Amino acid sequence: AEVQYHDFVVQETPVKRLCKTHSTITVNGQFPGPTLEVTNGDTLVVKVVNKAQYNVTIHWHGIRQLRTAWADGPEFVTQCPIRPGGSYTYRFTIEGQEGTLWWHAHSSWLRATVYGALIIHPKADSSYPFPKPKREAPIILGEWWDANPIDVVNEATRTGGAANISDAYTINGQPGDLYNCSSSDTVIIPVDSGETNLIRVINAALNNELFFTIAGHQMTVVGADASYLKPFTTNVIMLGPGQTTDVLITTNQPPGRYYMAARAYFSAQNASFDNTTTTAILEYKSAPCPAKQPLKPIFPSLPAFNDTGAASAFTTSLRSPSKVNVPTDIDENLFFTVGLGLFDCPRGQTCSGPNGKRFTASMNNVSFALPRNFSILQAHHHGINGVFTTDFPAFPPVQFDYTSNNVSQALWQPVPGTKVYRLKYGSNVQIVLQDTSIVTPENHPIHIHGYDFYIVAEGFGNFNSQTDTGKFNLVDPPLRNTVAVPVNGWAVIRFVADNPGVWLMHCHLDVHITWGLAMAFLVENGFGELQTLEAPPADLPECF
Ligand code: C2O
Repeated sequence: AEVQYHDFVVQETPVKRLCKTHSTITVNGQFPGPTLEVTNGDTLVVKVVNKAQYNVTIHWHGIRQLRTAWADGPEFVTQCPIRPGGSYTYRFTIEGQEGTLWWHAHSSWLRATVYGALIIHPKADSSYPFPKPKREAPIILGEWWDANPIDVVNEATRTGGAANISDAYTINGQPGDLYNCSSSDTVIIPVDSGETNLIRVINAALNNELFFTIAGHQMTVVGADASYLKPFTTNVIMLGPGQTTDVLITTNQPPGRYYMAARAYFSAQNASFDNTTTTAILEYKSAPCPAKQPLKPIFPSLPAFNDTGAASAFTTSLRSPSKVNVPTDIDENLFFTVGLGLFDCPRGQTCSGPNGKRFTASMNNVSFALPRNFSILQAHHHGINGVFTTDFPAFPPVQFDYTSNNVSQALWQPVPGTKVYRLKYGSNVQIVLQDTSIVTPENHPIHIHGYDFYIVAEGFGNFNSQTDTGKFNLVDPPLRNTVAVPVNGWAVIRFVADNPGVWLMHCHLDVHITWGLAMAFLVENGFGELQTLEAPPADLPECF
């Protein structure tokens, strides 16, 4: 195993998209940021220097960070942000993970432009559990705003309303030729006939789940979130923000140009969103090349934006390659609601949420508030009181008909708090994640830091602990770090709490985390060095 050193300089860089040039926050002047390619077992040492005028942190999405929670990155959870002019070195080892992950800023909405792929290759003496692909390409789906994303979130926070929708979706930072001023920069993936290639799809969008498809080519899904899957073929995949999916494609079509395309899967009713399509082009090198104009690519068919059937057909097809060790003797049987809510507008202000209120969101009626003066992990490690409380509820304070169309208005106002749920080292955890229809039901991509979990079941309606347990797949469920909890439905996940530290769990739609759709687990140390959080690095940023 190697130690890889990298420098990340966070800086303002002029980037031109949709006919306009903006000063954009980038890493090393690149947008998207640099792709990191490592081998399972390697250690990454990334020195982040902040030359921008905003606080920043970097999160290595999906990396287990075993005993190294200090390198996880969410601001005010595991570290205080890197101030303008400051720096911090993230140091962590990749232990037992292979496939596609990514890194992104974890401070305000900076991840809109501060992100990149993190590819983990198998160790030299091992290989993929599928035939070696001829080529590999990351496809990073994103969103682009004509405005500065920090201004977009500040505006939404000030008014209490929904955030402005983005102006384009992007593939590897480019909107693609269906958008204005974008055709000459459309991403082209060159291929030869008769080869099998690995496409690593990452959803880095800020606020939208996305469907992805390729004209004329079936995809064989072989992995997700840096875990292998039992291969199956499909025409369309769905990714919530935070999720990755590795697919093989065989170039068995007549030589030509074929669109790869992504657009929104949006399950919430009565809300506006960006329903445009981003494209890249799969180009056979042997395709005929007419003198005047390049061949018009073939366009794929994509599901409608509200096609929950297509989304769930995909997510319920995922299986681990063979029998896995799902925890069975459950020590912590938790039930968390995930959903939106509304706060009354502060006196003397006008709010632009529904009924003149301001949007909020919660888990078990707690709307997560980040601390300001310490990170939760620092406060925990140094025994500093008053930063967080350990009373995050295991169940919703009131049980109700979660998916009914008329949930009582009394339930719409969650309580703000910085609450964590304490887990003993090694406990077997099950969480039922239940969507609520408060304000609007919606598919929520829920991510847990520091862990992968088995998704043992998902379904629609209210979870029923009598009948739905019979649907659990305890044989070969998929292992992921982000689960798309079905709209008006539920998902059940299981994991062993074997990584000490403080770990954020949140909806990966950034507008929802801004509203408070988050909580954190505090996992205690076990016994001995291998079960104990390492000491904090000397350069860990202080809050003031
Ligand atoms: Cu991909 Cu908390 O993040």
